[in-house]
Amino acid sequence: MPGNTFGTLFRITTWGESHGPATGVIIDGCPAGLALTAAEIQKEVERRRPIAGSKITTTRREKDQVRILSGVFEGKTTGTPISLMVANEDTRSKDYSKIQDMYRPAHADYTYDLKYGFRDYRGGGRSSGRETLARVMAGAIAKKILLQKTKTVIFGHTIQVGDLKVKTFNRSEIEKNELRCADPVAAAKMKKMIEKIRFTEGDSIGAIIEIVIKNPPKGLGEPVFDKLEAELAKAMMSIGAVKAVEMGAGFAAATLKGSQNNDQMIKKGGKVHFLSNNSGGTLGGISTGEDIIIRLGIKPVPSISKPLKTITKSSKNTEIATLGRHDCCLAPRIIPVAESMAALVLTDKWLQQMVQNSLR
Ligand SMILES: Cc1cc2nc3c(=O)[nH]c(=O)nc-3n(C[C@H](O)[C@H](O)[C@H](O)COP(=O)(O)O)c2cc1C
Repeated sequence: MPGNTFGTLFRITTWGESHGPATGVIIDGCPAGLALTAAEIQKEVERRRPIAGSKITTTRREKDQVRILSGVFEGKTTGTPISLMVANEDTRSKDYSKIQDMYRPAHADYTYDLKYGFRDYRGGGRSSGRETLARVMAGAIAKKILLQKTKTVIFGHTIQVGDLKVKTFNRSEIEKNELRCADPVAAAKMKKMIEKIRFTEGDSIGAIIEIVIKNPPKGLGEPVFDKLEAELAKAMMSIGAVKAVEMGAGFAAATLKGSQNNDQMIKKGGKVHFLSNNSGGTLGGISTGEDIIIRLGIKPVPSISKPLKTITKSSKNTEIATLGRHDCCLAPRIIPVAESMAALVLTDKWLQQMVQNSLR
């Protein structure tokens, strides 16, 4: 019922509120014997952190220093629950005192009050993007297992901001710009557009990101409710502000004929090859071994300084302008989170596959 736990064999439980003392995760089911240091997890956490000096992201600044509290002894996982945490340091809760009795349009304020009759309004409480830090810490371990055991690599990139789309793809460019965009020319235009929207209009903007899972193990996913794409879609839709998920050709498949959409197969050099990847790496909910391609539609950040109509807790009409420290376009910050969610799903499914096929 409470919904803070994800996964079956590789299972995580995240905890913490945006302005509480700390944010953390418990990972249960991580196999014993994996070499693990806080520094490795820190590397992924740094990728989720707002970039210092950036004009397109929140100015909230925290060290986000990862602490391993349990489950690792002499540099190796012990097979017992791994508990990871970071302190919340740069909270300015008074920024939120004005909105404690109002609902930010498109944020979770209204529904949390509706459901619980009470909410931690400081920084969005549990609905804050800060919760995703816990997922990234767990995702760092899942990514390591996948790389080591199956040579699977997961990366994400921004492909659209507003109506600006990428025109080229150069993977080595992705981590070189603030947008995490593989087309540096498009990235520069996107950045300019975001700055204008933020500073001139007091507004925010939506985006599309793509997550690529390269060299995934074959055969992952269970018929019928636990299909791999169903699990991935749930994982992605559990991230705040993600409003759409498509796999492979996705919505574009609606415009294709079967002869165009069907990924034809040939055998060459003793191996099975697909001549295209419109299915996005799964058939019947089971991975084919082709790259798994997921695209996410991300809505504009709800908190904006442009005044909008809303209601108070006592249902009076009013206006709200959110003046705290907020992101303007979430694409680059959601990329490490979505990569982590993909890694968590794949690791969980890979462990299930190992158990299921252990007598084969
Ligand atoms: C990494 C990350 C950072 C976010 N930062 C902000 C922010 O600064 N301001 C804001 O209003 N929403 C932010 N959000 C989005 C809200 O958390 C989200 O829109 C809200 O919880 C409502 O959920 P929904 O959009 O899924 O309906 C962020 C989300 C993520 C994943």
